[in-house]
Amino acid sequence: MSMEGSESVTRRGFLRTATGAAATAGAAGTAAAKSQEEGGGGGGTKEVVVGPGGSLVFEPAELEIKPGTTVKFVWESDNHNVVPESQPDGAGWEGTKGAPSKTYDTGHEYSYTFETEGTYEYFCQPHKTAGMVGTITVSPNAGGGGGSSAPAIPSSAKTLGIATTAAMVFTLGLAYFFMKYGGDYGRVE
Ligand code: CU
Repeated sequence: MSMEGSESVTRRGFLRTATGAAATAGAAGTAAAKSQEEGGGGGGTKEVVVGPGGSLVFEPAELEIKPGTTVKFVWESDNHNVVPESQPDGAGWEGTKGAPSKTYDTGHEYSYTFETEGTYEYFCQPHKTAGMVGTITVSPNAGGGGGSSAPAIPSSAKTLGIATTAAMVFTLGLAYFFMKYGGDYGRVE
């Protein structure tokens, strides 16, 4: 009688532990999926150097970013500006302040947050003919540095789901095994 009772306590204890483990696995999966989502949600800042080392270029000349990313232009030589050549419908980017003839010198910084998806072409007015032009592409699929790319989220979430399900199936299997054969072991002893 007393042995029967202690077995049942052990069984309950095992079930409690197993259920807790499964719940923990599930919670960990949810947390991981959430942090992935936040990492892929745009935002952040990318830097474009204006006239690095006196060269008549933007560096990088081609930049791909997620919506909501701020691009910070940093002047490393004199007499440059940033003037939009073309941009997506609905976007209101105006480039550096002032007329296209207004330029800025070393140390100047200009930031703009790109929200509207599409392609933005821009140039430096005094050096456009020298090839000082740049392109910024705003796309939710932009990769590189700005967090995980969009396709990685569903596939990762799927993996987490499978792992969580596997953990629960494994736990339930153990519980079933324990309940079916656990008592017999007790009796043999
Ligand atoms: Cu320039």
